[in-house]
Amino acid sequence: MCGIVGYIGSEKAVPMLMAGLKKLEYRGYDSAGIAVLDGKNAVKSQRSIGKLSALLELTEKDKTDGTLGIGHTRWATHGKPSVENAHPHTDCSGKIVVIHNGIVENYIELKARLSEGRHKFFSQTDTEVIPHLIEEHFSATHNMAEACRLTALELKGAQAILVVSEYEPDKIIAIRIGNAGGLIVGRDGKESYIASDLAAMADHARHVAYLESREMAVVGRDSVHYLTLDGATLVKKTTAVTEQMVSAGKGLFEHFMLKEISEQPECVLNALRGRMGFELADVLLEGIPFSKHEASEMRRIVLVGMGTSMHAAMVGRHYMERLAGVPTEIENASEFRYRDFIADPPPLVISISQSGETVDTLAGMEEAKRRGLRQITLCNTPGSQSSRLADYTLSLRCGPEIGVASTKTLASSIACLYLLALWIGKHNGHLDEKALEKQVQILAKAPDLVGRALSMTSSIKALAEKYHKANHFLYLGRGIDYPMAMEGAIKLKETAYVHAEGYAAGEMKHGPIALIDDSMPVLAIAPRNALYQKMVSNIQEVKARDGKVIAVATEGDTLLPTIADDIIFVPACDYLLEPLAILPALQLFAYYMAVHLKRDVDQPRNLAKSVTVE
Ligand code: F6R
Repeated sequence: MCGIVGYIGSEKAVPMLMAGLKKLEYRGYDSAGIAVLDGKNAVKSQRSIGKLSALLELTEKDKTDGTLGIGHTRWATHGKPSVENAHPHTDCSGKIVVIHNGIVENYIELKARLSEGRHKFFSQTDTEVIPHLIEEHFSATHNMAEACRLTALELKGAQAILVVSEYEPDKIIAIRIGNAGGLIVGRDGKESYIASDLAAMADHARHVAYLESREMAVVGRDSVHYLTLDGATLVKKTTAVTEQMVSAGKGLFEHFMLKEISEQPECVLNALRGRMGFELADVLLEGIPFSKHEASEMRRIVLVGMGTSMHAAMVGRHYMERLAGVPTEIENASEFRYRDFIADPPPLVISISQSGETVDTLAGMEEAKRRGLRQITLCNTPGSQSSRLADYTLSLRCGPEIGVASTKTLASSIACLYLLALWIGKHNGHLDEKALEKQVQILAKAPDLVGRALSMTSSIKALAEKYHKANHFLYLGRGIDYPMAMEGAIKLKETAYVHAEGYAAGEMKHGPIALIDDSMPVLAIAPRNALYQKMVSNIQEVKARDGKVIAVATEGDTLLPTIADDIIFVPACDYLLEPLAILPALQLFAYYMAVHLKRDVDQPRNLAKSVTVE
C-alpha cells in the first residue's frame, strides 16, 4: 500500500526522495510528504494532499537543503486523505518524525494511554501514536535505536516504519514487523537508501538487504547496523542490484496500462523461454527442488491468490487437473487463512502474486509454512517476500508492471501455470512422452496467439465508444473461460468505475437473469469449444429478455453475428489456450471504456498496486 523512502548521504535529500516517491506512487496516491533534516539538523516537514505533483510544487517553492530525509506516499486506512493525516507524523516536540506503512491494530488503546499523559494528537491516523511512544521511550533511555525498538515491541499488527530525529541527526531507523510490504536497505559508498520497493532505489544502490519481520536497521551514511527486535545484532546477507530490477518508462504509449497490454506476447515468450525445449518437446524448470518421486506423490494442489491473481489460479486449476491429473482447489487467500483448512493429504501450495507483497497471500503462505507444506510461488518481483517464503519461485519475467490494474502479469501467470502443470504431469506420469510433446507444441503457440489477439484493438475502441454510457455490465463465461468473465468484470470496475459482475454462464438463470433489460449489456464469452452450444443458449435467453449482447466469438463464427448485437472476434486456438486469446480483448475493452470516461487509467481512485494491509 503506502510507499516509503529514505536517503542519507552527501547529495541533497529532497530530489532523491521525490525521485524515489515517483517510482512508488503506484502504491498509494491520496497524499504525500517528506521530512528532511536541514543544514542545522532541524526537521523540516512538507505534506500535501493528492498526487505527488502537489508535493513537488511545494518542495520547489520552499526549498530545503539537507542530506538526510524520509518520504511517504499514502493510501489511507485510518483517517481520510488530508494534510493533517498525511505522513510524516511527529511527537509533541516535533523533533521525532515517523512515516509508516501498515496498521497499528492497538492504536486506540495506545492513543488513550498517551492522551492521559501530556501527548496531543493532530490527526486521525493510527500512525501518530508511534512518534509519541518513541518520545516516551527516548526520555527514559536517551538512545534513539533503543527507543524505537521498545516502541516496536508495543505495536500490534504488521508495520514498516522509518524514523528520523533531531536528537540523533545522523541516522534513519527502519523497522519491519510482519508483512506490511517490504523494507529494503540499499548501499553505495557513502550513501544509504531505504525503500518499500526496490524500484525506488534501483538507479542508485549497488547492494541491497531485505529486512525480515521483527528486524530493524540503524542506517548511517557509512554503515548500517542490523538487529532483531529482541536486541541481538544481525549480519544480513546483501544482494547485488541487477539491470533487470530498474524500472521501465511509458515510451510512446499514452498509459502504462496500454503499454503493458501490448507487451503481453513478449511476456508470455519470456515466461516460456528456456523452460520449454521447443524442439525436444520437454519442460525444464531449472532448480525446482522437487524430485520425480515427490512429484508422483502429489495428491492434491491448492492454488492461492487475490483479485486478478486468483483468476489466474482459476485458470490454473484446469491445467493442474487436465495436464497433471492432480485434484486442485482454489483459495481466495484472504479466506484461506481463517478457515479450519484440512491439510490431509498435504497439498502442494502454489501462490500467485505479481507483487509478492499482498498481505493476504503472504499470510496464507505463512500458514502453509507453519503446517510444513511445500510451496511454489509465481511472482513478478525479484526478491519479494513471497519468493522468500516459498520453496521455489517461478518468475513471471514481465519486467515492472506500473499500471495499477494487472494486465501482463496475468498473461504470464497463465503461461507459467500451464508450464508447471506440464512439469508435474511429466514427472508423475500423467502425461506420456507423446501427450507431453503435443502439449508443448500447443503451449509454444501462446506468444503468437496473444499477438494475434491484440490485432483487433481498433474495433474494440469503437465498441467502447458505443457502450461507454452503460452503467452496469454482466460478463458470462463457461469452463476455462469463466475466470476470464471474472477478469473482464474486475478490469471494467477498477479502471472505468463501471459496475460489472462476472458469472459462470450456467449461474445466470439462478438469479442474475432478473437484472437483464436493454440497459445492461451482457458480454458473453463464447468461443468455438465443447461448451459453445450452451453459451449460444445463454445468449438466446438474454436476447429473449431484450438484453444487449456483445459476444466474444472465434474468428470465422457465422452464427453468433446473427444473434448478438456486437461481436469481438478472437483467434481460434486449443481449448486450454483460450484464456490467452480472450484476455487482451477484455483488457482493451476496459481500457478504452476508462479512456472514454476520462478516468485515471494508470492510478484508479481508491486502489493501490500492492495491497499490504488486510
Ligand atoms: C486487479 C489487480 C488486483 C491484484 C491483487 C493481487 O487488476 O491488480 O486484483 O491482482 O491485488 O495482487 P498481487 O498479484 O500483487 O498479489
